[in-house]
Amino acid sequence: MKKILVTGALGQIGSELVTKLRKTYGTENVIGTDIKKQEKNDGPFEIVDVTDGDRLFSVAKEHQVDTIMHLAALLSAKAEIIPKMAWDLNMGGLINALEVARELNLQFFTPSSIGAFGPSTPKDHTPQDTIQRPTTMYGVNKVAGELLCDYYYHRFGVDTRGVRYPGLISHVTLPGGGTTDYAVEIYYEAINNKAYTSYIAEHTYMDMMYMPDALNAIMQLMEANPDNLKHRNAFNISAISAAPEDFAKEIRKHIPEFTLSYDVDPVRQNIAESWPNSLDSSAAADEWGFKAEYDIGRMTEDMLEKIAGK
Ligand SMILES: NC(=O)c1ccc[n+]([C@@H]2O[C@H](COP(=O)([O-])OP(=O)(O)OC[C@H]3O[C@@H](n4cnc5c(N)ncnc54)[C@H](O)[C@@H]3O)[C@@H](O)[C@H]2O)c1
Repeated sequence: MKKILVTGALGQIGSELVTKLRKTYGTENVIGTDIKKQEKNDGPFEIVDVTDGDRLFSVAKEHQVDTIMHLAALLSAKAEIIPKMAWDLNMGGLINALEVARELNLQFFTPSSIGAFGPSTPKDHTPQDTIQRPTTMYGVNKVAGELLCDYYYHRFGVDTRGVRYPGLISHVTLPGGGTTDYAVEIYYEAINNKAYTSYIAEHTYMDMMYMPDALNAIMQLMEANPDNLKHRNAFNISAISAAPEDFAKEIRKHIPEFTLSYDVDPVRQNIAESWPNSLDSSAAADEWGFKAEYDIGRMTEDMLEKIAGK
């Protein structure tokens, strides 16, 4: 991995991933791309709509990249509102990116999600290989995407790799319309108003992870010795299993007057209830050494400090 093209580079993950990749591989060796224009000019950037495969191919070829990290997607909550558009972007964009990787012989990374599981999946310590019958358009896209990445590896020898991300928590770019977005909003509201109204109900557990762990996972997996990878795509990775009241409890250690109330959104609550409570990430640990550094306490301390500093 020496020269990398990132799609969806201005999103919640991409905006921090590009910065981290540039520190490691050099600014000129990381090409950010997105359908939106970037506001600050801090390195090579191209407008690319991933549903336009020819444009993606020509930008990858022109910059002579050896790796593509494909992040452009429509997330779970938005995908339920416009499911056909989610299919076109999530599946159309993915196959275009995989085709570019096949034609130009590139290493390939794309994230799947806990959304790839469904109500019939075992909820606690969800195994790496288990039942996947999701009930959302996003989940359908993610399962199909996992299989498509496996297919490109087995059929064409493309070096595809990927993880199943839990809900990601970060303070640089706001999340883009997922079901776990509340776990970011709660910190901003704690700093700004000392109160938060959660659209996810009490006692609803989901897996979460702090962005530094999510970014380290990408770098580690992409640099891992391929001989050790039995799974390649869609590794379960996990750090924190939490419900809204767990965030409130941690926040109160720093802001004692913080209050949490509930106004449940049935659409996002339904999605949340169809997802696992916690994942078993032992395959990722065994095959490429994954280990999360942040628990909910350490993450809360850092989130509150960084948001207050803005
Ligand atoms: N953030 C999370 O909690 C989370 C959890 C699990 C998996 N993931 C996965 O990680 C990936 C990135 O997620 P994210 O949170 O950064 O998403 P995001 O919504 O924050 O960012 C997506 C980016 O894609 C861009 N985009 C939209 N349509 C495009 C198009 N047609 N062509 C090119 N770019 C386009 C958007 O402008 C945006 O900058 C997705 O595959 C998502 O499913 C994210």
